[in-house]
Amino acid sequence: MTVISLLSGKGGCGKSTISVHLAHWLHANNQRVILVDADAQRSSSTWIAEIAAPKISSLAVPKAEDLLDELPRLEREYDVVLTDAPGSLAEVTRAIALRSSLCIIPVQPSSLDVDAAAETVRAVMQARDIRGGSPCACLFLSRAVRGTRLEQEARELLTRYPLPLLDTTIWQRQVIADAPGQACTVWELGGKSSHEAGRDFERLFEEALQCLE
Ligand SMILES: Nc1ncnc2c1ncn2[C@@H]1O[C@H](COP(=O)(O)OP(=O)(O)OP(=O)(O)O)[C@@H](O)[C@H]1O
Ligand SMILES: [Mg+2]
Repeated sequence: MTVISLLSGKGGCGKSTISVHLAHWLHANNQRVILVDADAQRSSSTWIAEIAAPKISSLAVPKAEDLLDELPRLEREYDVVLTDAPGSLAEVTRAIALRSSLCIIPVQPSSLDVDAAAETVRAVMQARDIRGGSPCACLFLSRAVRGTRLEQEARELLTRYPLPLLDTTIWQRQVIADAPGQACTVWELGGKSSHEAGRDFERLFEEALQCLE
């Protein structure tokens, strides 16, 4: 029914982490979801396959020409096709932007990362131009360190882009970094920090999906 993608030409900003958590959250909200891993490193498809339950379908599709065919085909079979893009602005990322309904772009809060987001935003705007409007898209701050001024400064710098910045920030938290090694999501890890991380993810996903409305 819809293709949602995590997109960013910048590596390490949290695309795979968000993809796996969003897939689980959608599944918990009764959506038939498949995770398409478009990164040849296969981080998200490996992680999601290691999670014992619930079992969520995933498929590795690392080539742009295959994504252009596979995404519309899977869209007919599933409620949500969630696509985890590689950390580059190669053809793969452009193919995903051309086939997505919603592109979610994580940005780490540093001036270098904010500057680097320009190329991702540009790829989305070009896809919109080609398609006459789609995809919807939004930015959010990812891996921000609490107690620093960088988050607020990045928030101000990101207003230069013609895409909405979500109110929810995903903070840098040890529990989030621990989750893949434990073969789970933060919702399965106990403790206050994982509870807070889970709540932040839920708030982020609700906000991001509103962009589709
Ligand atoms: N909010 C967070 N707090 C702590 N660690 C995080 C957070 N988000 C991601 N990480 C860690 O940062 C690293 C990069 O995250 P991830 O692999 O999700 O990024 P990515 O954008 O998919 O990277 P790539 O572009 O290489 O595919 C991983 O080690 C991950 O566990
Ligand atoms: Mg990744």
